[in-house]
Amino acid sequence: MAGERGRLDGLSVLVTGGGSGLGRAVVDRFVAEGATATVLERSAEKLESLRAAHGDRVRGVRGDVTSGADNAAAVEAAVAAFGGLDTFVGNAGLWDFGRPALDMSLAELADGYDELFGVNVKGYLLGARAAAPALTERRGSMIFTLSNAALYPRGGGVLYTASKHAGVGLVSQLAYELAPYVRVNAVAPGGMATDLRGPRAMALGDTSISDMLPVEDQLRQYSALDLAARAEDYVGPYVLLAARGESATMTGAVLDASAVGTPRRPDFAP
Ligand SMILES: NC(=O)c1ccc[n+]([C@@H]2O[C@H](COP(=O)([O-])OP(=O)(O)OC[C@H]3O[C@@H](n4cnc5c(N)ncnc54)[C@H](O)[C@@H]3O)[C@@H](O)[C@H]2O)c1
Repeated sequence: MAGERGRLDGLSVLVTGGGSGLGRAVVDRFVAEGATATVLERSAEKLESLRAAHGDRVRGVRGDVTSGADNAAAVEAAVAAFGGLDTFVGNAGLWDFGRPALDMSLAELADGYDELFGVNVKGYLLGARAAAPALTERRGSMIFTLSNAALYPRGGGVLYTASKHAGVGLVSQLAYELAPYVRVNAVAPGGMATDLRGPRAMALGDTSISDMLPVEDQLRQYSALDLAARAEDYVGPYVLLAARGESATMTGAVLDASAVGTPRRPDFAP
């Protein structure tokens, strides 16, 4: 893009779980739009792949989003490498593979809850807390990855659905607490074939969503738009929410990008 102006020129962003799937698609697009990115990610291999693709435009920080110290280290790395922080994207997540509550023992439910909520809720909150002072200095914004499961049932089991609904609460309350200095919004994508894993406590740590779904058919069936969306199809709303001046009036918003809330008319054929 040498010589061209990107929609995110000069912005410094921090993305958690930016090593694969949606987070990686956000990093790739943000860098293409002129931003620099810092990625907090637990996989060294995925960080190496980011470095090979983006060189100095991306800094990797190996760590766990459930650790306050790792979130603080990622913010420090972003400020040291790129002079400040404009956007925090809370994105690293776990899925429960749609496991119904009654199919789990009490022990599995309790341990699965701790691990999944640890990443999907505590991880977002710690990242937000660590990033807020640097974002305040730049009048920046936070963007959280939620899900159709933040708004409707059937996007997961009870653990995932409750954790993503909790994400709506984070957005709502943090938007209130940080106004007018930091805007806080979310994107709720629908299903996509990624490396999304489950809790080790539910023996789902080595299974990815791509192994489970009959991807194309199932995604199309849930989408009002008859789409089997890929991660890169969901990044547009992130650009909108991060770009200076394009969403200046928006805070506390959850953008539903999932197309699963609208039933399809069975008799409609143009
Ligand atoms: N895949 C889907 O169908 C789907 C649908 C709706 C929403 N989402 C949401 O999208 C977000 C991204 O998931 P994805 O589908 O791209 O999956 P993904 O597994 O490809 O990406 C998530 C990344 O987060 C990293 N990660 C996981 N736990 C971590 C931790 N504790 N600390 C640091 N890094 C960690 C993983 O290594 C991985 O690179 C999640 O919040 C997920 O809930 C996914």
